[in-house]
Amino acid sequence: MAQESVTGRDELQDVRDLEMPRRGTGCAAEPAEDAHAAIPVILDCDPGHDDAFAIMLAAANPAIDLLAVTTVAGNQTLDKTTLNARRIMTAAGISGIPVASGRDRPLMAPSGRVATEIHGESGMDGPSFGEPTVPVVSTDAVGFMHSIIANHAEPVTLVVTGPFTNVAALLLAYPGVPVERIVVMGGSTERGNVTPAAEFNIYADPEAAQIVFGSGLPVTMVGLNVTHQVLATPSVLSKISALGTPLAAVCVDLLTFYASTYKSLFGFDSPPVHDPLTIAALIDPAILGCSSAAVTVELNGTATRGATVVDLDRWTGAAPNCDAAVTVDPTRFWDLMIAAIRDLGDDT
Ligand code: BDR
Ligand code: CA
Repeated sequence: MAQESVTGRDELQDVRDLEMPRRGTGCAAEPAEDAHAAIPVILDCDPGHDDAFAIMLAAANPAIDLLAVTTVAGNQTLDKTTLNARRIMTAAGISGIPVASGRDRPLMAPSGRVATEIHGESGMDGPSFGEPTVPVVSTDAVGFMHSIIANHAEPVTLVVTGPFTNVAALLLAYPGVPVERIVVMGGSTERGNVTPAAEFNIYADPEAAQIVFGSGLPVTMVGLNVTHQVLATPSVLSKISALGTPLAAVCVDLLTFYASTYKSLFGFDSPPVHDPLTIAALIDPAILGCSSAAVTVELNGTATRGATVVDLDRWTGAAPNCDAAVTVDPTRFWDLMIAAIRDLGDDT
């Protein structure tokens, strides 16, 4: 006979038993009803070396219908991240996908933090780029995203690889906007990379991140705990180099610069390529294993502002608001990424 509960703790235990996280059992990036239909995506980013790889993967892989690239201040100032989006798209021969620039500062602060120490003065140091031919079609990324979402026949997925400012502004300006899912690179179930507790994209605009996690929309969090396993090793670099195209050379130059800053700042032997894992998880959901969890962003901590508190073990009893990635298959990821560079390189 089941034991009767005698303390208040059992109510919480009931919630934990009922909803114990399915650790690593696959993210809820549900396959489309028509498994062959491409997933409509807007990619909101702050290029950024690793953002550039996210753009390339989204543009190249037929499982993604890339509707727009929108930019935000983050790794560098907005003018630089926007120029960098246009630069990598031009170098990769990506045309016909609109670029719109968005917010140049966090929601609630007069200026943001940039990451010159990782991405250099340009935000994408390493290669030399020619004059970009890809235009900026709008300087109101928030309104632009809304008009795409409102007019697209299928529900749109938002992928965020920079500070969450644009997407939070979208949710504030257009409550109830019908977004299918928001997949974010940000946060961690463990430690940070800009403070001991906080990851860069969240730290750069914690209020925006809290709005996204608290939105009630399905959110997938791809944090440092998994992206730090997706490394541009010497073997990865030689596979890219062996493609032998001008685009492959640009990618090698990007990763070589990025490797040098990760080595000198963090002592990494090979740098983690965070952002394209978001896109890869949509293409091949088996790349990530997720656990549903309540995620809260620390807004007030003096030493912990911008930390993501990920309640994997259901301590709080709060309802899960997120699928947090907890496992990753880096080999499957690199197979997709290298194929994308190969395919784009054929056309350049
Ligand atoms: C994130 O911060 C940026 O520097 C990268 O582009 C990535 O989006 C990693 O913390
Ligand atoms: Ca980024």
